[in-house]
Amino acid sequence: MDAISVIRAKRDRQELTGEQIDWVIDAYTRGAVADEQMSALAMAVYLNGMTRTEISRWTAAMIASGERMDFAGLARPTSDKHSTGGVGDKITLPLAPLVAACGAAVPQLSGRGLGHTGGTLDKLESIPGWRASLTNPEMMRVLDEVGSVICAAGDGLAPADKRLYALRDVTATVESLPLIASSIMSKKIAEGTGALVLDVKAGSGAFMKNVEDARELATAMVELGTDHGVRTVALLTDMNTPLGLTAGNALEVRESVEVLAGGGPADVVELTVALAREMLDAAGLPDADPAKALADGSAMDVWRRMIAAQGGDPDAALPRAREQHVVTAPASGVLTRLDAYAVGLSAWRLGAGRARKEDPVQAGAGIELHARPGDTVTAGAPLLTLHTDTPDAFGYAEAALEGAWDIAAPGTSHEPTPLILGRVG
Ligand code: URA
Repeated sequence: MDAISVIRAKRDRQELTGEQIDWVIDAYTRGAVADEQMSALAMAVYLNGMTRTEISRWTAAMIASGERMDFAGLARPTSDKHSTGGVGDKITLPLAPLVAACGAAVPQLSGRGLGHTGGTLDKLESIPGWRASLTNPEMMRVLDEVGSVICAAGDGLAPADKRLYALRDVTATVESLPLIASSIMSKKIAEGTGALVLDVKAGSGAFMKNVEDARELATAMVELGTDHGVRTVALLTDMNTPLGLTAGNALEVRESVEVLAGGGPADVVELTVALAREMLDAAGLPDADPAKALADGSAMDVWRRMIAAQGGDPDAALPRAREQHVVTAPASGVLTRLDAYAVGLSAWRLGAGRARKEDPVQAGAGIELHARPGDTVTAGAPLLTLHTDTPDAFGYAEAALEGAWDIAAPGTSHEPTPLILGRVG
């Protein structure tokens, strides 16, 4: 077996054999296939796709590249969620403690943001003292004692994906259905959760720009999960508008705490509760009532214990950026569109995200929205507040917002797009 013949086969649109896939993933993980060879193969997959059989084998090979965790010793059923990524998507923060408060165990291994989408770990690291890296025994202890844990995936979990994802990020091969599906599902299956709910986003701020592509991705991932014995369902959700009223690390933590306190923006609450119901159903707890656990403070109680168990101070003031700049509405009327990608890119330029994976992020940077589509806005009144420690960024951040909204004549009726667009599984 050699890398050149595997690349050539995929370049020439042939179906790769199981042996070819097992060999190339294993050899790449060991360093026997070079980055430039794997880049060429990733581009051939990006251009020519993979069959269902190939995706399934590719995922299995990535799982086999590392360890597989086992939660069989826990008293509660496990249930996890994965979002394909969006702007203002802070849902994991209230969701994990909420589902734990309802009786499931939530082992949430999360990532950092790259590009215009934020990462759960970056958000939580804005809480003073909070630690993303836990050893496997530490993770098990938090999960057992608190019911939910959000931490970085250890190096032992699907190491082939770790290498391949970093390579795809710099070779324009991220947005490939077989590569996204196998990347996400290899990590989630190796993590060992019994049930999995996928939030597959469609729209300008998502990898999948339309709902048909999102449905195809969701179907591939649900099939992969089911084939590997994980009860998997997917919700298709809108990502043309940012979620909630904040995009940026500490800003999103603040909003998540509002949701846990029984308040927060209606769309964040709606999606959190809908995903919680799916996770609890998939875990065999269909009678649990997540809306009640938000209202009666039990989810907040789990949140506080979860943050403290990882060294964080749930009562500490969250960092605030040194500088603010208010963007005002240019006209009076009804806001009918506020583009998620533009807001994500602008927040990223303010310092909320990173350009290279080793860059730091600013905890306080980001954007506050003062209106959402459907709201009435007044000329000269605040529409957005930009936050950063580096005021030179304001100009670039405002440039990213060029053409990001539409304001219709006062009194125009606006039918909001539903947040939940469909379900697979
Ligand atoms: N998230 C992942 O983990 N992998 C992808 O390929 C895309 C999003």
